[in-house]
Amino acid sequence: MERLFWGEKKMIDLHTHILPGIDDGAGSIEAALEMAEMAAASGTLAVAATSHGNTGAFTIEQYWDAYEELSQELTRNDIPLELYPGMEIFMDHNVEQKLADGSLLTINETRYVLVEFALEEELWMVNDYLQMLDEAGYIPVIAHAERYAFVQRFPEEVYQWVMRGCVIQVNKGSLLGAYGKKEADMALSLLSHNLIHVVASDAHSPQHRTPKMGNAVRFLNEAVPPKYRELLLSENPRRIVSGEEIAGFPPKPYRRNRYW
Ligand SMILES: [Fe+2]
Repeated sequence: MERLFWGEKKMIDLHTHILPGIDDGAGSIEAALEMAEMAAASGTLAVAATSHGNTGAFTIEQYWDAYEELSQELTRNDIPLELYPGMEIFMDHNVEQKLADGSLLTINETRYVLVEFALEEELWMVNDYLQMLDEAGYIPVIAHAERYAFVQRFPEEVYQWVMRGCVIQVNKGSLLGAYGKKEADMALSLLSHNLIHVVASDAHSPQHRTPKMGNAVRFLNEAVPPKYRELLLSENPRRIVSGEEIAGFPPKPYRRNRYW
């Protein structure tokens, strides 16, 4: 069992692919339960089950069936982990309509929407999508911001998004170097600019990209003040699933002249 680190026993993991058999996450109910046990042993109280939405991989009925099945099995197996509904929504211009008709889901029925883009998306398209969500009354939570080429090239945009009310989520694996140097450098850079609101696992399985949070807690324990660590792992995720405003340290802008 993973050793708990002091102070982080209230984590809420806002980005997981724990529902069995509907996307590229947990392949079976057994794998999902193993992930749930790992999360709970890490000090995670709850996870949002954010399967890849808007990819055509499953219907909304299949999502809710998998959600119900996992909820019941968590209870039956006495695993102390709560589930929240949600999706990691791949952005296109139909998202607003699909959110309105209930075929795509916000995080726990709040205004917060976990969104992702193609890793090489054009920056103007990203801004177009963010504006569309904002105008429709949603708050975008940008999934694994550090992994996008447009963020690595134009990190100053992240400051603008934050100033406009977007939420920035970074994967724990990026902080720990699991995705590569560019992603790790970007995650650290965003962290040092106070431009991260949430750290989540983006867990896909009990073997690779797991929901274990211990190493991330230890890393953040060294890298940032305890209050900031708590915001990233517990407090902001709690506020988001409750539909409350997020909190943060004052964001620091990037110096634009580094590109000139
Ligand atoms: Fe994901």
